[in-house]
Amino acid sequence: MTESSANKSANGKVCHRATNGLKPGKNGFVKSNYLYQQQENKYCYPEEKVHHIACNGGMYKRPFNESFEETPMLLAVLTYVSYGVLTLFGYFRDFLREWKFEKCNIASERDEQKHFVPLYQDFENFYTRNVYMRIRDSWNRPVCSVPGAKMDLVERVSHDYNWTFEYTGKVLKDVINLGSYNYLGFAENTGVCAEAAAEVTKKYGVGVGSTRQELGNLDSHEELEKLVARFLGVESAMVFGMGFATNSMNIPALVGKGCLILSDELNHTSLVLGARLSRSTIRVFKHNNMQSLEKLLRDAIVHGQPRTHRPWKKILILVEGIYSMEGSIVRLPEIIALKNKYKAYLYLDEAHSIGALGPNGRGVVDYFGLDSRDVDVMMGTFTKSFGAAGGYIAGTKELIDYLRAHSHSAVYATSMSPPVVEQIVTCMKCIMGEDGTTIGREQVHQLAKNASYFRRRLRKMGFTIYGNNDSPVVPMMLYMPAKLSAFGREMLKRNIGVVVVGFPATPIIEARARFCISAAHTKEMLDMALNMISEVGDLLNAKYSRRRMLPSLDQTFDETTYEEDED
Ligand SMILES: Cc1ncc(COP(=O)(O)O)c(C=O)c1O
Repeated sequence: MTESSANKSANGKVCHRATNGLKPGKNGFVKSNYLYQQQENKYCYPEEKVHHIACNGGMYKRPFNESFEETPMLLAVLTYVSYGVLTLFGYFRDFLREWKFEKCNIASERDEQKHFVPLYQDFENFYTRNVYMRIRDSWNRPVCSVPGAKMDLVERVSHDYNWTFEYTGKVLKDVINLGSYNYLGFAENTGVCAEAAAEVTKKYGVGVGSTRQELGNLDSHEELEKLVARFLGVESAMVFGMGFATNSMNIPALVGKGCLILSDELNHTSLVLGARLSRSTIRVFKHNNMQSLEKLLRDAIVHGQPRTHRPWKKILILVEGIYSMEGSIVRLPEIIALKNKYKAYLYLDEAHSIGALGPNGRGVVDYFGLDSRDVDVMMGTFTKSFGAAGGYIAGTKELIDYLRAHSHSAVYATSMSPPVVEQIVTCMKCIMGEDGTTIGREQVHQLAKNASYFRRRLRKMGFTIYGNNDSPVVPMMLYMPAKLSAFGREMLKRNIGVVVVGFPATPIIEARARFCISAAHTKEMLDMALNMISEVGDLLNAKYSRRRMLPSLDQTFDETTYEEDED
């Protein structure tokens, strides 16, 4: 690839490749060019000093500053060695289990079926019993309160190395919650939303007992759909009882055999499942990498379908607004330019960005100052910023009318519970200011301020932080499996609840803590959490950032993509 093509973004503007240890493979253009500089005072606490941030010009009306620091070689090697040691010990312990020196607790075939083909697949079991089990206490902790800025956790202990847990009868009170997707702080049991939901429960009950097409179509569902369409600035919307099913059941209604799906490599499982169920051909482009996407689009137009070379019936690009493991924001202006250039359709999943991004909380379209009509299919969930459940699809009236008739989710699934509908309606009206207050707007602004502050402080402490400066999802790299569990446990000892994520949810050498910032966090809570994170970071030697130390890298784009399913 020539230098000029490698460095050109979809708008034809020249961008710089990653430098200073930033990871180019993630999106091709990690550090944007400095076409203008803007103070971000808006999102700062008064005592903080502010530096400029960078911006891509042309298509981007606002600064777009996103970085991924490359995993240092030594750390990568040490992480592989740790997994190697775990695997060796795993084989040794399996040997002991086989010969009954050690008790085996994992599911295994019944004695009378021992000669059957094993039902429980072996390698997944191997990983579960020998790696995951050692650190299982970091996950599935029972929460016994609202998942607000603080929460209560049920204390539990294990006497058999995490195979089983016992409750001690104690509750860990007021743990600062850095893990729930409660971006705007609406997941509460008090306040207008909770009161409205309780009131509606008295009138409608909780269950609906039917699908939308039969007797499960309530007046409040229709009110919610009109509100969602108004909120997003589109003609029409449809809501579903489950966010996951909104993707997995509606993508197959839109595309099928002979269609091509171009999917970001880090898309959520619900999008992946929807794509697979559709029986379309799926090609995967590098995360948020416009060169990779454009290459696939160009190839799709030039070569058409395999063997017959007929044109694809439809090309659908699947992306998310905010990627929940990387904290990155989709390069929407460039994707819209590409999809228009190659006449493809765009499906945007705003599960994490709706409510959490943009000056009006209307998601990634609002964030970039774009027109929602440029996105063909707008999808989102109510499980994050709205503190509720369910999902929506929004767009043109034709799209929604079509889905009402063809979506499995609409035809066969019971519709959304009335108190859930009411929670969403009240939240959304609050964000839109239709409740006559500015509370919603203030929450949106507070979230942006908190996220920006939290990220900046972690970076200053020397942690490796992934993602976009404006993203409320803040991944902090820990790399090694032992540090992953140690971090979770040490933070809980200090009364801070965090989520840690490792393989297979992340690449094997990129285990991380994933913080979710909320508008409900006060500055005192954030400062307290930051101090504890710093203390634990020193204890575990986890302040890995080498941003100022690395020489500049000038790597070229690796053109390898892979195809998941070929006709
Ligand atoms: C991008 C994305 N889409 C869809 C979903 C599924 O949504 P829900 O959890 O509301 O079922 C999630 C869940 O986290 C998600 O992150």
